Amino acid sequence: MEIFNTKNELRAYLDTKKIHQTIGLVPTMGALHEGHLSLIEEARKHADLVVCSIFVNPTQFNDPKDLEKYPRPIENDISLLESAGCDVLFLPSVEEIYPDPQEVWHIDLGYLDKIWEGLHRPGHFQGVTQVVYKLFQIVQPQIACFGQKDFQQIMVIQKMLEIKKLPVQLVICPIVREKNGLALSSRNVRLSTEGKKKALVLSRALRAVKKDFPDKPVHE
Ligand code: PAF
Repeated sequence: MEIFNTKNELRAYLDTKKIHQTIGLVPTMGALHEGHLSLIEEARKHADLVVCSIFVNPTQFNDPKDLEKYPRPIENDISLLESAGCDVLFLPSVEEIYPDPQEVWHIDLGYLDKIWEGLHRPGHFQGVTQVVYKLFQIVQPQIACFGQKDFQQIMVIQKMLEIKKLPVQLVICPIVREKNGLALSSRNVRLSTEGKKKALVLSRALRAVKKDFPDKPVHE
């Protein structure tokens, strides 16, 4: 696997491949788990060259303590990506992505960043669209894979693509769960045993709702 820390090195490498190859991007913040690896696997089905980015994006953290505590097991991430057959890892610094610390970003996401998670994390989805836009500009992928776990994130990224008129196809991949139903997430390492048990309420509630819905519409 090739590893690049700068945009210029990455672009120079990708430019040598671009003519013949479809590029698939899997943007991540690292602390990789099976869910991320399933995105790499899916990207491989659609692209000749699979690029993964690991960048803990400061602009999407509304709480500085959350940013500080975000897990960063980079050596383990690199070996997971190598075993998963990822071709390229883009591992930039904050200065590389945000050379101008005063840069202002705002796009009109309508109601999409004002509901659900957006209500509780002001600025979060603006930060997500800002960094994903930059990654798309740098890598210029034809496809990009995202996990359905972050459903609202996919909606805002799709909206950003429409606004910026970028020709990237989003590939939405199913949620990967532990056997007990807990959705895999990098942040799970920060949950206590008790916290993990409590988190299961979400998958249980979803399953209960699904069970109560008939498979076919009622009028049939
Ligand atoms: O889902 C994530 O890990 C992040 O929000 C993303 C898409 C990599 C942007 O930083």
